Amino acid sequence: MPNADEREKKKVVVIGGGVGGSILAYTIQSSFEVVLIDQKEYFEIPWSCLRAVVEPSFAERALINHSDYLPKAHIIASAATGITGTQVLTADGHACPYDYLVIATGHQDCAAKTRSERLDHYKAEFEKVKSASSILIVGGGPTGVELAAEIAVDFPEKKVKLVHRGTRLLEFVGPRASEKALEWLTSRKVEVILDQAINLNTFSDGVIQTSSGVIIEADCHFDCTGKPMGSSWLEDTIIGKSLDLRGRVMVDEHMRVRGHQNIFAIGDITDTAEVKLGYPAQRHALVTAKNLKLLSMGANERKLASHKLSQTYAIISLGRRDAVAQLPMGTLCGSIPGRLKSRDLFVGKTRKQLGLKPK
Ligand SMILES: *[C@@H]1O[C@H](CO)[C@@H](O)[C@H](O)[C@H]1NC(C)=O
Repeated sequence: MPNADEREKKKVVVIGGGVGGSILAYTIQSSFEVVLIDQKEYFEIPWSCLRAVVEPSFAERALINHSDYLPKAHIIASAATGITGTQVLTADGHACPYDYLVIATGHQDCAAKTRSERLDHYKAEFEKVKSASSILIVGGGPTGVELAAEIAVDFPEKKVKLVHRGTRLLEFVGPRASEKALEWLTSRKVEVILDQAINLNTFSDGVIQTSSGVIIEADCHFDCTGKPMGSSWLEDTIIGKSLDLRGRVMVDEHMRVRGHQNIFAIGDITDTAEVKLGYPAQRHALVTAKNLKLLSMGANERKLASHKLSQTYAIISLGRRDAVAQLPMGTLCGSIPGRLKSRDLFVGKTRKQLGLKPK
């Protein structure tokens, strides 16, 4: 029998178990009856997973079963398929009633359902790199740059080519950081080809042509171009009218979905004027946790906490020792910013935030 306390708890459904959804569910699991709906059974620390391509065992600490940090929540490993005014429907047939709903589905990802499948995926990626002598990376955002650097440091004998559509790497930070990343990669013999698109579907027999006709040979390739927004399924739900033209969910300063009193959205899927990174998503989650508690206690709307837009600080790791960082004090490259991130990639810190042992 649930005790009186349990009976009074409001129901919160969180859709999406990425950076924002996981920390939110963790933070509120004792105060609410929490249901987490995620296609994966685990949380993957996204800024650490590229190390797993060159060191598969690194993923052991960076892939965390949701049940490990959410002992009090109910976890449904399925896709959400519908939202009504009172419940969320899932692909595996659940109908989850909610008092409050939080949408945190970020970008579409087709990652494996179970943690062990994901570990196997990284082992396979590692074998792919190990057995190749030339590697093509497509996309010069943080993912492509960090992956190129990981391979260049751990496998200096491999030929790595990085093709990017834009005129500079890392367009989400300032040009100085782009230049430093380019210099660093070039000094490690990574060939960076800018301002060229590539259609990976035309890759055959290890040969591919870029948009301006450059022929690239590679034994294997990695697609590090951005993933689309994970919001198309929302179009036919009660949230449909709250999507902007780019498929992002429009939110107010309290992280509530425009036009809805009891529905929030956090992380990459929102239309906040910020670069979509992990730490803004975590901040969205903490503001939302606060607001859920205030609303459930019947607080006045005017008392709700507001999200203050995050500045674009970023640390892009360059292998195990170095990094390029855009910080309040300026843009730095080398082992000094590297000390902030590159050895552990914030895995210990992130595990601690979820109440787990850092090691
Ligand atoms: C994670 O969950 C799976 C069930 O899908 C289980 O087999 C596995 O042992 C768990 N791993 C850890 C590290 O808890």
